[in-house]
Amino acid sequence: MKKAVLVTGANSGIGLALCERLLCQDAEIQLCLACRNMQRAEAARTALLVSHSDAHITLLHLDVGSVSSVLKAAQEVKMRYNRLDSLYLNAGIMPNPQVDIKALLKGLFSSKVIHMFATAEGLLTQHDHVNSDGLQEVFATNLFGHFLLVRELEPVLCQPGHTSRLIWTSSSNARRTTFSLSDIQHQKGAEPYSSSKYASDLLSLALNRHYNDQGLYSSVVCPGLVMTNLTYGILPSFFWTLIMPVMWLIRVFTNTFTLTPYNGAEALIWLFLQNPESLDPRAKYHSLTSGFGNNYTQPRKMDIDEDMSEALYEQLLELESKVRKKVKKEEEDPRVHEQYLHQTE
Ligand SMILES: NC(=O)c1ccc[n+]([C@@H]2O[C@H](COP(=O)([O-])OP(=O)(O)OC[C@H]3O[C@@H](n4cnc5c(N)ncnc54)[C@H](OP(=O)(O)O)[C@@H]3O)[C@@H](O)[C@H]2O)c1
Repeated sequence: MKKAVLVTGANSGIGLALCERLLCQDAEIQLCLACRNMQRAEAARTALLVSHSDAHITLLHLDVGSVSSVLKAAQEVKMRYNRLDSLYLNAGIMPNPQVDIKALLKGLFSSKVIHMFATAEGLLTQHDHVNSDGLQEVFATNLFGHFLLVRELEPVLCQPGHTSRLIWTSSSNARRTTFSLSDIQHQKGAEPYSSSKYASDLLSLALNRHYNDQGLYSSVVCPGLVMTNLTYGILPSFFWTLIMPVMWLIRVFTNTFTLTPYNGAEALIWLFLQNPESLDPRAKYHSLTSGFGNNYTQPRKMDIDEDMSEALYEQLLELESKVRKKVKKEEEDPRVHEQYLHQTE
């Protein structure tokens, strides 16, 4: 039977490169590009069909940062597929990034340069805002929307006698110090991106605990530092071009500067080829590129613990229940939405 694979954020960067590589790996797959902008999704589909003219590629409208869009898209997926083999939770945002230029320039010529680019520690903050569902946008997009999608797709992901996989595009920027169980949406801090990625590492562990016995396995990936729309949002493209010779030089000494989306997708494609049962739920799978340009995948232990992951999982279930109640009430009376927004201000 042909494998069904759904990729969120499939129209650009790592997601698009992943789709290309999936088709090279298995031309028979039923590939679904789940994107918020259908024009960009159509352009991605056209580009993929140039090199894979017989490929089975469908589009799905999904704004992962919107509860109603996630619920609608999940309904559509359940109508289209009896079973989903792989779900790539890849869409992600880092809105309004602010770079500490002084720290950047200082770090560029220090021994910490590799660590600085790999983790952005002490370098990067973001301005987040509340979305129309009353949730912090980064949390809603990078984490909660994907969580809700997984929960909604349970019937097609958890099939008796079959294994399915979830693959999260996390980051080395995921740091325990930016995440707090008392503020899972990161309303108070200035590093919502790091917090959301750390939360996805915790959530993956919890999902394994709760779903492995139903045949569903979850893994997290770090694609390395990749030049995409996301990185061009942090610093303008001319700056990256300017420092590119330094980056290539540093690449001789490190392996985390994968730089191209193709290289960044390495661990995502590697996981596709593994038996999910053989994977370590506490490992993050890193895409790495050697100084000679060879790609490989390496598991590294994550700084996470079971209690914290369970506590986050419980909070997400509570939030899910609240959100579902709100959606139900809204369907009955649209004025409820106005009141809800007022309360969350
Ligand atoms: N680039 C890096 O160095 C790096 C490092 C570590 C982790 N990552 C992670 O890699 C993943 C892919 O990012 P990228 O680097 O490839 O950047 P990108 O080119 O900007 O890709 C992000 C993708 O997510 C989509 N997206 C954003 N918000 C969405 C929403 N609300 N609903 C649906 N789709 C949405 C974007 O769609 P639009 O085109 O419509 O915006 C785009 O397709 C992200 O999770 C990112 O955090 C990247």
